[in-house]
This record gives sequence, C-alpha cells and structure tokens, in this order.
Amino acid sequence: MFQKGLKDVVAVHTKIASVEGDIGELRYRGTKIGELITEHSYEEIAYFLWTGKFPEQNETFTLQEGRELPEHVKIIIDALPSETPLMDAMRTAISGYSHHHFTNQPIEQQARHLTAALPVIIARHYRNANGLPIVEPDPSLTHTANYLWMLTGTKPADVHVEALETYLKLTMEHGMNASTFAARVTISTESDLTAAVTSALGAMKGPLHGGAPSAVIELLEEIGTQENITHVIRKKLQNGERIMGFGHRIYKTEDPRSILLRDKCDMLAGQDGWLDLATTAEKEIIALLETYKPGRKLYTNVEYYAAAIMRAIDMPPELFTPTFSAARMVGWTAHAIEQLSDNTIFRPQSVYIGKKS
Ligand code: COA
Repeated sequence: MFQKGLKDVVAVHTKIASVEGDIGELRYRGTKIGELITEHSYEEIAYFLWTGKFPEQNETFTLQEGRELPEHVKIIIDALPSETPLMDAMRTAISGYSHHHFTNQPIEQQARHLTAALPVIIARHYRNANGLPIVEPDPSLTHTANYLWMLTGTKPADVHVEALETYLKLTMEHGMNASTFAARVTISTESDLTAAVTSALGAMKGPLHGGAPSAVIELLEEIGTQENITHVIRKKLQNGERIMGFGHRIYKTEDPRSILLRDKCDMLAGQDGWLDLATTAEKEIIALLETYKPGRKLYTNVEYYAAAIMRAIDMPPELFTPTFSAARMVGWTAHAIEQLSDNTIFRPQSVYIGKKS
C-alpha cells in the first residue's frame, strides 16, 4: 500500500496522548487537557506524561537538574556565529550531550535533564546573538518563570508567566506529528535519547510544522488594522496562498488548544492591540476561508493564538519555534521512552518509479 506522506496511516500504538480531530478533543494520558492545565503546573504535567502518575503530595517535582549546562556545551553555544538561527543552535547544543554524558542514567532522568536544559540553551544563544550578558538560571523560579527571567534579565510579571505557561502546557504533547515521529524513528534503531531529540529538532524547524507562529505575526503585521483584514486575506486567497495559523492535518473543527488560548487572550483583552486585532481577524478569516475553500473545515490552529500571546508578552518572533520546541521536548522524550518499551525498528518500503536503462 502506498500512502503519500503516510497520511492517516497508523504507525504507533500510544498511551501518551489522544487527539480526536473530529470532536476537537485532546487528552494527555486519558485526562482532558482543559482539566489538566487548570489543576497542574508544567512540571507536574511533564512528570505525568513521562510516568503516567503525578508526583506524591509531599513531593515537589522541579525541573532544576539540567539547568546547569556542561562547560563544553556552553563553549559550543558561545562559539556559534550570532546569525546562527536559534533552532540550529539548539540542535547543535543538544548534539553536544553525547551519550557518555548520561552514562548509566535511566532514560527518564535523561528526559528530565534535557527538558530542563533546553530553555537555558535557547536563552544563552539568544542573549549571545543580541550582544547581551548571560543571565544565569534562578533556582527559586519555576521552569516557565525561569525561562522568561533568563531571556529578559528581569523578574517576569505573574500574568506573563501564566499566559506563557498555558501555551507551554498545551503544546507539550500532541500524539503523532512529524517531529515526534522523527524522534521515534531515530530511537527505534536503538540509538540514544540525545539523537532522537536532535532529529526531532531538525523536523520541527520546517515552516509546515513548527514555523507557523512567526508567520502569523507577519500576517497580522501585514494586516495592520481591522479595516485591512478582508482586503489582505482576499488577495492572498486569490493568489492561492495559505493563511498561516489556519488549518490542521487532524483537527477538522476548532483546535481545543486554540479555544483555551483564546480564553487567555480574552483575559488580557484591551491590554494589547495585537490581541484585539487577532480576535477580530479570526472571525473574518474563517468566513473568507469558507468562501474560497468551501468544505475544507479550516479553523485556527494553536499557532494563531500562540502568536498573539507571544506578541502580548513581547516574545520576539525568532523565539516562537524554539519555545514551542522547549515545550514539546516532554512529548518527544515521552514517545522515545514508550518506543523503547516495545520497540520495532521503523522500516517502510519504497517503490522505484524512475528510469530503467
Ligand atoms: N489557507 C488556505 N487554504 C488552506 C489552508 C490555509 N491555511 N490550509 C489548507 N488549505 C486548503 C488547501 O489549499 C487545500 O485546498 P484544495 O483542496 O483546493 O487543494 C485544502 O485546504 C486541503 O489542504 P491540505 O494541505 O491537504 O490539508 P492538510 O490538512 O493536510 O494541511 C496544514 C494541514 C497545517 C499543512 C495546512 O492547513 C497549512 O498549510 N496551514 C498553514 C500553515 C500552518 O498554519 N501550519 C501550522 C501547523 S500546526
């Protein structure tokens, strides 16, 4: 059987997340995402995704171990030219964790370590590239607050931490997708977790997967004012262009993550012109997509409101895909662990259709 892009082909049985595209439902290990994000921190949900359990009530689970980068990884990051794109810097720095770094560590511990390290890597390269002094991690801060602290050098406002953490929780895991598949394919050769995450980062870099939030900001900037929405979108659709932040391979109704992020945006309404533009534009764009692409069921995907939230907290667009990746590190590593627990190497077939001499 040939299925281009493996569309709709089931390659894996998983207990980590279920994505019900037709009814717009996302669950992590059986629990609805809306319930999880209101009751648990990012750290607790990460623990849950890796182990299927929550930390004991008397146990505080933190993502501290791994915030101190190995010296050679710092040297690798510091040696990169400032124009190196962040996704490339992250992939290169993670490659620096060669297997011996984790000798004899259980894979769950490696997962925690890499998850704690990735935001530190991002902040280090971001500040280097912008000629800013490095801000060391603050052990008194949570994973999300510490990320904002290392990026900006100022203690973040609670509302900003809350908005970002909502986004991170919603994007930690999403079943099978290109980067998660890349991680599972790599670990299925009995390679190591570092290699699996490096593969995933390479896949995440592409604009059809992890690159959309920056493109949404460009779209909102091109629209600029509410009066321009119809004109700009019509022109794009007439030219056969895709509207960034709309459409999803799986969700054929509203993306549940998009709904929860829109709720957060509503909480911040009136505080940021971009948020207000995004909420107004959403309705008009959906109506125009239905006119130009009838029956395709195109709604906002998670990137649309993610971009609006990032803009509201002044996160520069170059940090969007890296931040998405930092969140998704939990999903990638959870899938790699699951793959190894019942492994078969991925080995599909190809059919030769070229010339025969
Ligand atoms: N804007 C305009 N038209 C779109 C569209 C968009 N954002 N997304 C899909 N379509 C149209 C396609 O042109 C196609 O039309 P056709 O039937 O006339 O050829 C139809 O909808 C189906 O497109 P297809 O690419 O087969 O759908 P898909 O479900 O496989 O695509 C995406 C999913 C995400 C790749 C696609 O919606 C897209 O490119 N979106 C924009 C990029 C984006 O926001 N990515 C973030 C991913 S989380």
